[in-house]
Amino acid sequence: MSGDGFSRREITAVLTFTVLAVAIGTGSYITGLKIAGETAGGAEAVSVATGTPVNGQTLYATNCAGCHGPQAQGGVGPALTATKHWTAAAFAEAVLRGRAPDGRELAPVMPRFGETGLDGAPATDEQINAIHAYLRGL
Ligand code: HEC
Repeated sequence: MSGDGFSRREITAVLTFTVLAVAIGTGSYITGLKIAGETAGGAEAVSVATGTPVNGQTLYATNCAGCHGPQAQGGVGPALTATKHWTAAAFAEAVLRGRAPDGRELAPVMPRFGETGLDGAPATDEQINAIHAYLRGL
């Protein structure tokens, strides 16, 4: 030992320890994130697989009936009875993007469900088709 400073060996030991500690800490953190991500992803996959079946009547009641009437007879919005003759694609275009089959841009009062979704999550074809099927059955 020379004087009261640290020896080269001591400094090297401290540096090595610090570098290892940081490396181990970072590694654990990343592994933790990965495990958390996989768990979350897994949970989501399960809930999609076991999710409640898409119900056109419920979707209609919660998203559309307020404006188009409980029996789609019309209210703030027009009656939707004529849409039973529309193709699925035309119906989806109107509901998701506010464009009627004749190319007309629907008034802004009609929500663009492609932006808002029907239940907090992005709208799916399955949901739109379920609503359309429900309307056809009225
Ligand atoms: C806040 C009120 C409101 C809600 C909620 C609403 N709509 Fe509308 N909707 C309207 C209005 C108003 C129009 C007419 C717009 C126009 O003609 O420019 C319209 C038009 C439409 C049209 C075009 C009808 C036609 O003959 O041109 C369809 C289809 C439609 N809505 C479906 C739906 C569906 C399905 C839902 C639920 C997922 C829904 N709407 C929810 C107000 C609403």
